[in-house]
Amino acid sequence: MASDKMKFRKYPFTKKMLLILAVCSGANIAHSESSLQNLSNIGIQDESPALMPMPVSAQFSGGFIPFSGKVAVSWENAPTLVLKKAVARFISRANALAGDNSSRQEKRHPALHLRISYGKDPDWLSVHAKESYTLTSGPEGVVLTAAGPAGVLHGLATLTQLIGHDAQGGKIFLANISDAPRFAWRGIMIDTSRHFMDVSTIKRQMDAMEMLKLNVLHFHLSDGAGFRVESRVLPELTEKGTNGQYYTQEQVRDLVAYAADRGIRIVPEFDVPGHAMAFLLAHPELAARRPVDLNVKNKNNPALDPTLPETLEFVTRLYAEMGSLFPDAYFHAGGDEVSPSEWTKNPEIVAFMKKNGFETTQELQADFTAKVQKILEKQNKIMIGWDEISEAPISSNVVVDVWRSSKFISSATAAHHPVIVSAGYYLDLLQPSSQYYLVDPFDPSANGITEQQAAAWLKKGTRPSLVNAFRKDTTLGPLTEEQKSYILGGEAPLWSELVTDEMLDARLWPRAAAVAERFWSPEGVRDVGDMYRRLESIDQNLQVTAIDSKINVKRMTKRLSPANPDPVMVLASATVPLRSYKMNRYVAHHGNRLDEIGETVSPDSFSAVRFGSLVDRYLAGDKSTVSEMRKMLQEWKDNDPAFLKIATSSGLSDAVSTSHDLAVIAGAGLDALDDQKDLSKDSQAIFDRQDAMLSSGDDVSGAGTMTEFPGGGLIVVIEPSVRKLLGSSSGVPAAK
Ligand code: ACM
Repeated sequence: MASDKMKFRKYPFTKKMLLILAVCSGANIAHSESSLQNLSNIGIQDESPALMPMPVSAQFSGGFIPFSGKVAVSWENAPTLVLKKAVARFISRANALAGDNSSRQEKRHPALHLRISYGKDPDWLSVHAKESYTLTSGPEGVVLTAAGPAGVLHGLATLTQLIGHDAQGGKIFLANISDAPRFAWRGIMIDTSRHFMDVSTIKRQMDAMEMLKLNVLHFHLSDGAGFRVESRVLPELTEKGTNGQYYTQEQVRDLVAYAADRGIRIVPEFDVPGHAMAFLLAHPELAARRPVDLNVKNKNNPALDPTLPETLEFVTRLYAEMGSLFPDAYFHAGGDEVSPSEWTKNPEIVAFMKKNGFETTQELQADFTAKVQKILEKQNKIMIGWDEISEAPISSNVVVDVWRSSKFISSATAAHHPVIVSAGYYLDLLQPSSQYYLVDPFDPSANGITEQQAAAWLKKGTRPSLVNAFRKDTTLGPLTEEQKSYILGGEAPLWSELVTDEMLDARLWPRAAAVAERFWSPEGVRDVGDMYRRLESIDQNLQVTAIDSKINVKRMTKRLSPANPDPVMVLASATVPLRSYKMNRYVAHHGNRLDEIGETVSPDSFSAVRFGSLVDRYLAGDKSTVSEMRKMLQEWKDNDPAFLKIATSSGLSDAVSTSHDLAVIAGAGLDALDDQKDLSKDSQAIFDRQDAMLSSGDDVSGAGTMTEFPGGGLIVVIEPSVRKLLGSSSGVPAAK
């Protein structure tokens, strides 16, 4: 986004810019009206726009054309209704971003001429959709040439990111872009079972997905906590399994159409045979363990009995109805986390296994998976399942959604399964964007638990076969080209145990935007600093065009401290919530409340990222950063008494100790800038405690047994940067 400081000069042509203008005028659209007068409208500024995902090829001259907010569209071939609506959305977003400048600019600058051409695409809204496009913004307007309708949507998303605004009004950066995705499947997964999400909330996420060129919404619609769709074929499911929170069929059709308008496919998930508690509330006779324990501690555990013909009949009827509501070719049947004891404690299931020669529950699950695959095949659907389904041989038609360890990418592609990579992109682990950003879908050793973590799990009594499934395999070599060809793409899942409707926008975005870049942009686009530079702009852009994260977080913050929310926000700006499901433990320990400060705190603090980059520049010799660093440190230090004053409510009082730690750390940073680098014993202990929590940030093994928690479940995330100022090193792994 444009800053107030941007310069506006006329006629400042550079060699680079003239080169781009030459390219622009060569664009393959007929009837271009060349006009010298248009050239005089070009301004120039030092910054380049923040595009995300980064296109395959993008050239910027630093110039821009003024934008009055008016757009005149000409189509080389007749637009479909979907494309007409897409352009209407573009214009409304463009106006929201650029402001209404028409009264000031319209006379001087006529409407932006947007010329669009596109090819037909019989594969629209499929994994084979034509998504490439070229986009040129030049003195005569904008030319968008797309292979198919999806390319038009993507080109408009990029054009939206080329819009800026400064003291002179709206503008569009001059650019010459050629672009196509690296992967065809670029998704996010939203869990509506643990917390139900309103239709309008889901629609906002789809607006943001469109802006980030994400094209699959994996919609998790049933789990232990609830089944979330009106069923007319099995009305007892709606009645008993939803606790009144579900999407009506009309709402589902509306969501599917809303998605399709944005080039998004909704792939529903109805998880069987595990995670079946909601089904069992309506059909207890299908349970593997009968009678069903309605007060079961872990609602994920109850499973269907896979040996009953009635179970298959139930799945057939459910999937037929849901499969017609969700028209996509793919259907996610779950298949994850069947607890073996659900099956082995039922003598009839054990007898079935014996009779059929199944030695393990994995083999029994493979038998069930094969039957479900046949059911879906008959219904013209392609089955997807989480990677547990690949632990015993199954048909290679089944798509494997890899989640536990990236090593399943290697085994599943070797067995010729199409693969979706979710391992490494779990947003509910509350990791920063940088961590997800650097996980590549082609890297089979990218994700999984370390040997040390595996040992901790075993010590805790976790089943060895489960520990092995999660274990990272760093010995795996790169995938062959053939294996790579089986990877459809990836998804960023967000399980919603700790995500309410109000929190969804801020827990998904902007981190999902960094993941979107990983799935779209060339493999070599991996500069974390540049990603964060663009991510902050993209987040601001999304606030205007799509999501309500800032509005919602502000409301949550005001609820915590109605008279003065500022100290809450200042503390939040230097902290992050506990990572790797340790926050789940904290919340459970605090009576499962989701109304504390931790719910308002982002896993990524742009202030902390900014502070970290100032520190790095300072240590590299750039002393101009001192005043900004001082200002930030002073604000964090001074916040402590203010926070103490307002921290009377139960949602804030637990965070007092973290506020104190922040003040000590910020104070030490200020001293370091004055060349006083000695720490008292107490201060050193605070640094060490915060550092230990941050450096064990991805240690999932610690979550299950945690009994002591930092105040508010928060960690002071500026600690490693202040430690650098003190001249000592932190245990926190540096971003690569
Ligand atoms: C999963 O996260 N249980 C697929």
